[in-house]
Amino acid sequence: MKKVLLVDDEPSMRELLCLMLRKDGYEVQPAEGFESARRALAKGPPDALVTDLKLPDGDGMEILRQVKSTAPETVVVVITAFGSTQTAIEALKLGAHDYLVKPFDVEELKIVLRNALERQELKEENLLLKAEFRSRHTLDRIIGVAPVMTKMITALRAVAPNNSTVLISGESGVGKELVAKALHAISPRRDAAFVSVNCGALPDTLLESELFGHVRGAFTDAHQSKRGLFEAAHHGSIFLDEVGETSPAMQVKLLRAVQERRVRRVGGTEEIEIDVRIIAATNRSLEELVRERRFREDLYYRLNVIPLRVPPLRERREDIPLLADHFLRRFVKEMGKNLAAISENAMRLLLDYDWPGNVRELENVVERAVVLETTSQIQPERLILGLAAIPGGSQNDDLGKEFSLDAYLDDIELKLLRKALGQSGGDRSHAARLLGITLRSFRYRTKKHHLGLDSK
Ligand SMILES: Nc1ncnc2c1ncn2[C@@H]1O[C@H](COP(=O)(O)OP(=O)(O)OP(=O)(O)O)[C@@H](O)[C@H]1O
Ligand SMILES: [Mg+2]
Repeated sequence: MKKVLLVDDEPSMRELLCLMLRKDGYEVQPAEGFESARRALAKGPPDALVTDLKLPDGDGMEILRQVKSTAPETVVVVITAFGSTQTAIEALKLGAHDYLVKPFDVEELKIVLRNALERQELKEENLLLKAEFRSRHTLDRIIGVAPVMTKMITALRAVAPNNSTVLISGESGVGKELVAKALHAISPRRDAAFVSVNCGALPDTLLESELFGHVRGAFTDAHQSKRGLFEAAHHGSIFLDEVGETSPAMQVKLLRAVQERRVRRVGGTEEIEIDVRIIAATNRSLEELVRERRFREDLYYRLNVIPLRVPPLRERREDIPLLADHFLRRFVKEMGKNLAAISENAMRLLLDYDWPGNVRELENVVERAVVLETTSQIQPERLILGLAAIPGGSQNDDLGKEFSLDAYLDDIELKLLRKALGQSGGDRSHAARLLGITLRSFRYRTKKHHLGLDSK
């Protein structure tokens, strides 16, 4: 319930307003003058103050001033006498949200009050969201001590303040989106929107109307006109993710927007100017796509103003323990588990693995391990890694003195058992089915590999 402090010296007016506002769901504290309003305020600020400006024992403007200095977020509506617009303007300057001129309708007060409270709420919500975005996406959220990473972060910091277009490249799961958000969050545009578009996920017609909006009647389902994401990102940043996936036709349209910073809604004629920073990302080599004539060269040059390459995890192995510990702590907290660390042997596996899926894969592997682990440390058996983890597997299958077919096949078997256990969430019957073997055979094999499963 919203608290309203209502200050008016005229008893009948005060009672009427009190009654009507209470009926509307407000908790109303009436005050008949300056002094009693001050006493009420001393007990804590209300959500809204409705005050007459002319009071027998003081000035309503003074109450407004006091409220704004102690609790600036309080909504204030002032009531002025007919013909004193000058005071009303003064009140607005001091931070009042609105004013009513006597005589007024009670309905009018209700509307004015509701609107002002709604506006205030939106404003607070907005500030909160922005603050949250800022604290969630600052640079220190990017974990990385490897020289290749610190270099990338230094470059990120250097390009953030200006408006240049940034092209972030890197394999899948390296953290391109994380980098894009951090870039926005430390840029002067941080108070405006960060709008993210996955260019690879939508068919052309949809993508076009998402990006540029459409006017009413532009196509069969366009019952209403809609603004596009470029417009939504006005004064902020737009993140064009997987830009290498766009079709040639779409590339032409993007080029126009990127080049001229102007968009035209689908079916519209008006050109809308937009002030936006463009951050693009790709997990494919755009240079290669240009060479293959699948990506327009002119668009490539427009996007590749400041290239930022996020290195794959295997090029920064020193970050693996940091990231693994970070994810461990996060999932342990989320799942409320009693798990302190990753065992030494398990960490060795993580360090040796090639991480084709990069940080995202590591995040998933740790999450699954936290789910499956029953001891107080993550054991190697809980790490379900992809085929690239087969020791002596993909990399080292040179036949020769060292080679043993049995050991080689054993390794593959172990790998697949782990994978099946991971996919089935530890359910052995399900894992056996995934491998196309009987539960009996599955038990035999897990025992052979010392896959310490608790009996289930
Ligand atoms: N350096 C890092 N520090 C902490 N978390 C990271 C780091 N890099 C990536 N992550 C996390 O890994 C996950 C994948 O990152 P993100 O989505 O940014 O990758 P991406 O490069 O955009 O991947 P894709 O190409 O698949 O879209 C996210 O949960 C992200 O928070
Ligand atoms: Mg991404």
